[in-house]
Amino acid sequence: MVIEEEETTSVLLHERRVFRPSAAVVEAARVKDWEAELTAGQDIEAYWAAKAGQFEWFAPWTQVLDSRDAPFYKWFVGGRTNITHNAVDRHLSTERRDRVALLYVNERGEEYRVTYAELASEVNKMANALMKLGVRKGDRVAMYLPPCVEAAVSMLACAKIGAVHSVVYAGFSVRALADRIHDANAKVLITADGTFRRGKVIDLKSVADEAVGASPSIKTTVVVRHAGNPVVSGTIGREMLYDELIEGANSECAAEPMDAEDALFILYTSGSTGMPKGVVHTTGGYMVATATTLQTVFDIHDDDVWWCTADVGWITGHSYCVYAPLLAGTTSLIYEGAPDYPEPDALWRVVERNAVTKFYTAPTTIRHLMRFGEKWPQGCDLSSLKILGSVGEPINPEAWVWYYEHVGGLRCPIMDTWWQTETGCFMISPLPVSALKPGSATKPLPGIEADVMDLDGKPVPPGRGGLLVIKTPWPSMLRTLYNNPDRYKKTYWEQIPGGIYVSGDIARKDEDGYFWIQGRADDVLKIAGHRIGTSEIESAFVSHPAVSEAAVIGTPDPIRGEVIKAFIILKEGYAETPELVKELRKHVRHELGPIAVIGAIVFTATLPKTRSGKIMRRVLKARELGIDVGDVSTLIET
Ligand code: WTA
Repeated sequence: MVIEEEETTSVLLHERRVFRPSAAVVEAARVKDWEAELTAGQDIEAYWAAKAGQFEWFAPWTQVLDSRDAPFYKWFVGGRTNITHNAVDRHLSTERRDRVALLYVNERGEEYRVTYAELASEVNKMANALMKLGVRKGDRVAMYLPPCVEAAVSMLACAKIGAVHSVVYAGFSVRALADRIHDANAKVLITADGTFRRGKVIDLKSVADEAVGASPSIKTTVVVRHAGNPVVSGTIGREMLYDELIEGANSECAAEPMDAEDALFILYTSGSTGMPKGVVHTTGGYMVATATTLQTVFDIHDDDVWWCTADVGWITGHSYCVYAPLLAGTTSLIYEGAPDYPEPDALWRVVERNAVTKFYTAPTTIRHLMRFGEKWPQGCDLSSLKILGSVGEPINPEAWVWYYEHVGGLRCPIMDTWWQTETGCFMISPLPVSALKPGSATKPLPGIEADVMDLDGKPVPPGRGGLLVIKTPWPSMLRTLYNNPDRYKKTYWEQIPGGIYVSGDIARKDEDGYFWIQGRADDVLKIAGHRIGTSEIESAFVSHPAVSEAAVIGTPDPIRGEVIKAFIILKEGYAETPELVKELRKHVRHELGPIAVIGAIVFTATLPKTRSGKIMRRVLKARELGIDVGDVSTLIET
């Protein structure tokens, strides 16, 4: 592995701007002194224990952190609670009861508000309905749903009865869905007739049907009538309509008292090799850390209108569209549609119409919308906004400054939050009162200890690149990989011994202790913020009859951050034609779904490999970028 020095060195050289919070921001902020808060967070156990106190526990924990079986850490040992009870029912005896919990908006301009009281009743009905279908504590329920109220309700209903949800992003292909259902051995699949995207209805049901056809574990498919697509019955297994399922169901349901360490959900994410990893999150620590980080970083209050634009199918949607905002008792806006449809001001119109106060999105969305010019945000009243956020990939300073100026009106600090599916919550991020440097996620949050280390586990000095690591456990850390504890240990804990979590990212710290994240150190691409492994893409290519071997790398793309460049060796008898290129693109899209965006396909006679036959993607990448290839003593071309 090489740690490239060039990219952020140039950022560091050119990006010297510091943006300090205005008096108004400091005045409004819950945490006024960043350094003092960081100091308070140094006593990790005391910090998180204090934060856990805001929730209701059915039985108190007897120990904050148990490291005896590391890296299988346990938080809030012996504590019993229920995350849905805390996210919904707990608010019913307060004035939050009649406040809007979920505000659903779509690109067609339709809106739908659900109060906490209504949400409680919907969740309970669904929880009872799931039990009627035979779902019990510990059973897995798969979901393949658009961002919609029923998605949040279904997740919360599972959590209420202790079932483990596995949400699969509704842009994934049949194979990706079937693989995930199979790995989790899910009993029920909840899907919908379709989803709205850029003026069209995209059919989800037919993908779900095909996946269920290949998934004997699914006993029942539940179909949400959402997009007005005709629902044609699948042929395999039992199928029920969501509305009919919950009609007449009891709107009261006792919360299952969950052990703090009982599984809450599985979420699959791409790794460097093989099948996606089933990241397992548990109940107590996840609850405490997601809510706390939202409160601290975005200074969330009851009267905020919080909008995280992520899809519920990703960790950002799990943690910050559903669980954290509801745990914090605020209003969470869920949006379904494209960010530039019907016009490039689609998002800004939603902000204006709903007086959104805190807005959290991805750099790729900002870069995409920048292209249309500032007249679109300028044409909308964005004065309700107070704090902005960014997640998913490094935000380039140009996009940061555009976002700051044209969306935030030079008034709203930008919270560049670094974290991962595995971490569950924000890990490195400023607070509203922090001094900001565009392109830097600033410092580890209180209660989090991150550092930059070399391959031997030694901290590297400021200005030098290295592995981004977390040095102490945190409550919402993943607990294992589903069905694969060895892979969990190997992937995250064995590169550097001694309880050091290796994130897979490369970063550097500057002389002020600010972190600059450079990107992945492993064979994982980030396309428009979506994680996808090179090996998954390569196996999709190789599953085409014309392809003998494939190697893929990420190449820079001005909007999506990265796109795929594929180097293909054809089998004998196949010709390098433009038709074949088209067909390969279609094939990979079918295998993996639209997130696998291919920039270029080139045919080649040989690929650079090690003597043991492993493809050296870094050599392809270095050639592509015109940089030094580094040590190639083991290189052969075959
Ligand atoms: C990248 C998304 C730079 C990083 C929450 C990480 C970031 C991966 C940032 C996790 C950021 C996320 N700055 N890079 N603010 N946030 N990343 O699992 O490479 O989809 O390892 O979780 O996204 O992606 P995931």
